[in-house]
Amino acid sequence: MTIQRFDDEDALAAALATRVLEAIVANPELVLGLPTGRTPLAFYRELRERSGDWSKVRTFNLDEFVGVDGDHPGSYRAFMQSELFDHVSIDPANIGMLDGRAPDLKAECRRYEAAIADADGIDLQILGIGANGHIGFNEPADGLCAHTHIAELEQKSREANAQLFGGDWTAVPGRALSMGMATILGARNIVLMATGQEKADAVYQMIEGLITPQVPASFLQVHPRVTVMLDAKAAIRLKPDTAR
Ligand code: F6R
Repeated sequence: MTIQRFDDEDALAAALATRVLEAIVANPELVLGLPTGRTPLAFYRELRERSGDWSKVRTFNLDEFVGVDGDHPGSYRAFMQSELFDHVSIDPANIGMLDGRAPDLKAECRRYEAAIADADGIDLQILGIGANGHIGFNEPADGLCAHTHIAELEQKSREANAQLFGGDWTAVPGRALSMGMATILGARNIVLMATGQEKADAVYQMIEGLITPQVPASFLQVHPRVTVMLDAKAAIRLKPDTAR
């Protein structure tokens, strides 16, 4: 893992936006994996404010709530439209999102895996991390799913998303569709970003701990091209010279 430290989340977001836009210049047909959440807000703001040719870029989001229509303000589709897609020159046909309202959710998961394979895989997967070490909605468990699947959400994860549902965590769906660990680890390059002290323990376990399904992000240790971008608070438990 390559560890990059930044003074604050704005500096991190600027550096990540630069990396993504340079990757698009190098490969206009870049296939990007994208997260939602609080952490990438500054990164999406940077992308909105800078020019880039998104016309041939393809994207696949990590996850979506079950039972929530793309028009619902709590959906990750709505989040992505307002934070990024409505502001850049991306072709709507090139936006990959899971449909949480699909009549057959297992078939929807298979469709998504096939769409990623048809795109020849993900070139650059951007990730956030949950305070419990989850990535996507791969929650700590005795075992993890390899491929895109229906995930049961922990209360903590629902609470973390309550803002999207009027501040009421019980209104947050209890299930989501999520890329699995093999889907994520299949990306050719991965960047995980974490900011804030509430992520410091998860970041420490991800980098310094054993590989365990109780910390799903720890599986990133097996991937050959992972960059972990941290602000000072998220890096607080790491030794100053931690870099691998
Ligand atoms: C979101 C996702 C989640 C978040 C994680 C961190 O698409 O896959 O794994 O990245 O829950 O969320 P924030 O950034 O809100 O702390």
